[in-house]
Amino acid sequence: MTQHVLVTGGAGYIGAHACKALARAGFTPLAFDNLSTGWAEAVKFGPLFQGDLMDPAALDAAFAQYKPIAVLHFAALSLVGDSMSDPGRYWRVNVNGSLNLVEAAVRAGCLNFVFSSTCATYGDQDGVLLNEDTPQYPINAYGASKKAIEEIVKNFGPAHGLNHVIFRYFNVAGADPEAEVGEQHRPETHLIPLMLDAIDGRRPALTIFGQDYPTPDGTCVRDYVHVSDLADAHVKGLQWLLAGRGNRAFNLGTGHGFSVRQVVDASRAVTNREVPMTLGARRAGDAAALVSGSARAREELGWRPERSTLPLMIGDALAWSRKPGFSR
Ligand code: UFG
Repeated sequence: MTQHVLVTGGAGYIGAHACKALARAGFTPLAFDNLSTGWAEAVKFGPLFQGDLMDPAALDAAFAQYKPIAVLHFAALSLVGDSMSDPGRYWRVNVNGSLNLVEAAVRAGCLNFVFSSTCATYGDQDGVLLNEDTPQYPINAYGASKKAIEEIVKNFGPAHGLNHVIFRYFNVAGADPEAEVGEQHRPETHLIPLMLDAIDGRRPALTIFGQDYPTPDGTCVRDYVHVSDLADAHVKGLQWLLAGRGNRAFNLGTGHGFSVRQVVDASRAVTNREVPMTLGARRAGDAAALVSGSARAREELGWRPERSTLPLMIGDALAWSRKPGFSR
């Protein structure tokens, strides 16, 4: 009998890739998902428990039925722009939902907890490399809600013995190289899939949000990390906790930033097609540059983001979006 790991958001983009990585490492991922943004078809590597983080009884039932040895907590509202227009929803769903989850885990005696946080907790810091000890000053409600959840998780250690690994993701991109799972948001808001949609005619053009940022070419700089590399980091984080190595926060990025224009150029090179685009205003809540200091995850977890190059991320995303039957 393999051990179950409860994966909230296991039907979503990153969660589904993590489920694949867990299964490959010999665990059985239990996807706990309300399917509000996830896809039942993406749950391929273990059972699906359809439930909502706002429903403590559903959480208790999932813990009681499967007795997971750990939780990987991905489920969240995660759109920066959206969080600026409806902050209340981000606080309610992300923070209250996570509090319910942490409390249910403690009730069930499931005390190993891996939390998906974000570089958006750091805010806008003049393009400096962000490392795990950089003070966190979020500039959008999404980042603020994730920072609050980090505090909850940390508080539950001394009080209830909860052990945690916090991962602060930079910009996640790409798809499973075998195209078993991939990115499919409703609506899609992320740069690389929107660019591929413009290239393949699923939308008229990509709009570049802002050209007057204090960056080399005026467009926002981000540190892109391949979703499969990110999934592998979660297995390492789980093993870290199971080995009793203690509470730790890790950035997951490559240490290299690319501007929106550089991503456009890379997409042109990978696809051999022009990217139809228009120039638009800045999007509320966007930091100018977010680039990871990535030494800790490499040195302590032994993590190697080997597929996290723009050509591989764009190529894998392209293969996924060109699969027969794909729609967005
Ligand atoms: N962008 C455009 N046009 C678009 C979409 C995006 O120019 O149509 C730009 C954005 O302004 C930003 C960059 O491309 O500068 C990346 O934008 P994404 O929407 O792809 O990603 P975000 O940086 O907004 O957010 C993502 C995740 C968050 C996470 C964050 C960390 O959605 O959950 O990365 O930077 F916190």
